Amino acid sequence: MVNFLHISDLHISKSLNETRVGKNTTRELLKTVIELAHTLKPEPSFLVFSGDLTDKGDIESYEYFYSVISNSKFPSILALGNHDDRSNFRKVFFDSPSDKPYFCTLEHENLKIIVLDSSLPGKVSGSICDEQFRFLEEALSNNDKHNKLLVMHHPPWLGSDSYSWTTLDQKSSFALSKLLEEHSVSGILCGHIHLNQFTNWNTIPIVASSGLHSTIDKFENDKLRLLEGASVNFCRLRGAQLSATCLQIYPIGSEIRRINKKFLLSMK
Ligand SMILES: [Fe+2]
Repeated sequence: MVNFLHISDLHISKSLNETRVGKNTTRELLKTVIELAHTLKPEPSFLVFSGDLTDKGDIESYEYFYSVISNSKFPSILALGNHDDRSNFRKVFFDSPSDKPYFCTLEHENLKIIVLDSSLPGKVSGSICDEQFRFLEEALSNNDKHNKLLVMHHPPWLGSDSYSWTTLDQKSSFALSKLLEEHSVSGILCGHIHLNQFTNWNTIPIVASSGLHSTIDKFENDKLRLLEGASVNFCRLRGAQLSATCLQIYPIGSEIRRINKKFLLSMK
């Protein structure tokens, strides 16, 4: 069994901090999440960040992000989103700036995590380039017995009922769907839509986290209304079976009562 935290859309920035007060800034919320991760039982083995690490892609924001995660004991797996800047990200994390898409694989015990870069400079919507499809096909090789999990910022296109900027483009989505017909993955972790959304896509679970910056008011139909709100997903892989529990980080409701754990254990 593997436990990990899925965190998305941090949008770390200097200017965003000025619009918020006290502990509600995305900088502070990131620290809060890391502190809370230490208190979780079972403890997560690693943290997965599914893009929009920063709001403007500036060096200072990546440096802040780097300093916080490198001071935590958890290994971090990073994907980039449309708000990120590949070159500045690489400059801070690898000291080698490059505008090429950032994609990689990482292994933890029997799990292989495949990170794709669905960002497309200058666009809000996402895409996966041919080079990444070749990389993905190799990473998904059926000869490799690891359970596999995909991480990318944009969820796949599901149909014409969603705004095109909210997903991967149709071409990439169809190509991904075709590739995944022949290979097994336990799930796809995404962000971008600032909603906690769970979708079954051709029998593959897609887990999108609203993230740390804001969430969307789905009861407002005329405009896109952003609300304060931060959450992360506590994920568990039992073999190849993925489950995700959404944990609210901010705002937190008032306590109603506390129930003794011994009593809970004795309850039938
Ligand atoms: Fe975002």
